[in-house]
Amino acid sequence: TWTLPAVLIAVGCGDAPATPAVTRSGPDPWAAALRVATAVDRNPDPRVVEIDLEARFGEWEYAPGRRVRAMTYNGSVPGPTIEARAGDTVVVHFTNRLDQPTTIHWHGVRVPAAMDGSPHSQPPVAPGASFEYRFTVPDAGTFWYHPHVAESVQMERGLYGAIVVRGDREPRADVEGVLVLDDLLLGADGQIAPTGDLVEQHNGREGTVPLVNGRAGAELPIRAGQRQRWRIVNAGSARFYRLALPGHRFTVVGTDGGPVETPRASDELLLVPGDRLDVLVDGTGAPGSTPVLQVLPYARGHGAGLTEAVDLLRLRYAADPALPALDPPAAGARIEPLATDGVTPRTVTFDEHIDRDAERVVFTINDRSYPDVPDIVTRVGATEVWDLVNASEMEHPFHLHGFFFQVVSRNGLPEGQRSWEDTIQLRGEERVRIAFRPDARPGHWMYHCHILEHVEHGMMATLRVEP
Ligand code: C2O
Ligand code: CU
Repeated sequence: TWTLPAVLIAVGCGDAPATPAVTRSGPDPWAAALRVATAVDRNPDPRVVEIDLEARFGEWEYAPGRRVRAMTYNGSVPGPTIEARAGDTVVVHFTNRLDQPTTIHWHGVRVPAAMDGSPHSQPPVAPGASFEYRFTVPDAGTFWYHPHVAESVQMERGLYGAIVVRGDREPRADVEGVLVLDDLLLGADGQIAPTGDLVEQHNGREGTVPLVNGRAGAELPIRAGQRQRWRIVNAGSARFYRLALPGHRFTVVGTDGGPVETPRASDELLLVPGDRLDVLVDGTGAPGSTPVLQVLPYARGHGAGLTEAVDLLRLRYAADPALPALDPPAAGARIEPLATDGVTPRTVTFDEHIDRDAERVVFTINDRSYPDVPDIVTRVGATEVWDLVNASEMEHPFHLHGFFFQVVSRNGLPEGQRSWEDTIQLRGEERVRIAFRPDARPGHWMYHCHILEHVEHGMMATLRVEP
């Protein structure tokens, strides 16, 4: 008899369509152009999410009929969304079918150090090899996953996916979905452009084709009065997404580390690379209208950044009459300020220069480049206060692995809203004070700028947490 090769059985089964949302307002808008598969959970235990993930080459159809050669998780960009409940165990059977080593980092998930996918956690997974990632997901929120090897190549070519962890008290919305933002820079041959010149190395790559969920020019159906929940992830290499939707306001209900204390309305959002925001969008537009979510200009230093607004995503209002509006969302749990009295702040300075002799850009932390930056050493249970100083004109989105932090102040001015973050904007010449407490999980934890070219040119270092 004829049998399928085992490898096809193991990996060819595909991922499930996104879970249909419970809705008072018709079909799930994410079922169409913005659809992202959900990773198939093959473990019957309701508290264990066990999935297969394979990094492999594939074709990425970013617009109808337009394809580029890509690196994918399970054949799609973004990779399948990993969905779980807070407290679940996640097991990922990962296989590398690329021609180069890779790892997976679970950005924002408080995993044990050995599961963090960073250069200190594990030797990279060789081509053809497998690795089992196993961890619990303690926090409700929106996270994401990506390699921590050759980031500017592997992530640019499509290796990224969202992680959605739900808690007991989620704000009410009619529908929800992920909006994973990215952009593509294409060469003359229509393929993803190879690594660029010194300017790209310095500024980080910004593409010319804006993408939502791996697609350009997609539309998002909406209905008047409907409340949509958008879990937005910035998976781009260097683009800062300053977003506005004319005629609408966003209500921010969550940041990197989960729910905010008090939902806040805002006309604009800003997501630096690596950032997430969880927002409610009320359908205040008229039936039949087609407002466009825009990326607004943003200058991030040295002439980098968008100079004119760009259309990102068109919303299409159904002709149906408006649904009755929902009540404003309830407050989230209180976020206690970390007590920092008596803690001596550490200064962590980010800077850059061009080494003209070597024709390369050098990005530094405390004047040294990774891997030559001395570790910061602390202990489990100690409170850490860091003054992040940006000595350069260019903005550097700061990311810390393993622990959420609170922003205490910016240039000495107390931060208005308390929230838990793992990725924040660090403006040119700015000084940002953050506080956090490594509560457990000793080990080596990376901190770095999330502009991928800057990571690769040295703007990364290690926090060592001793038991
Ligand atoms: Cu999004 Cu060190 O990572
Ligand atoms: Cu940077």
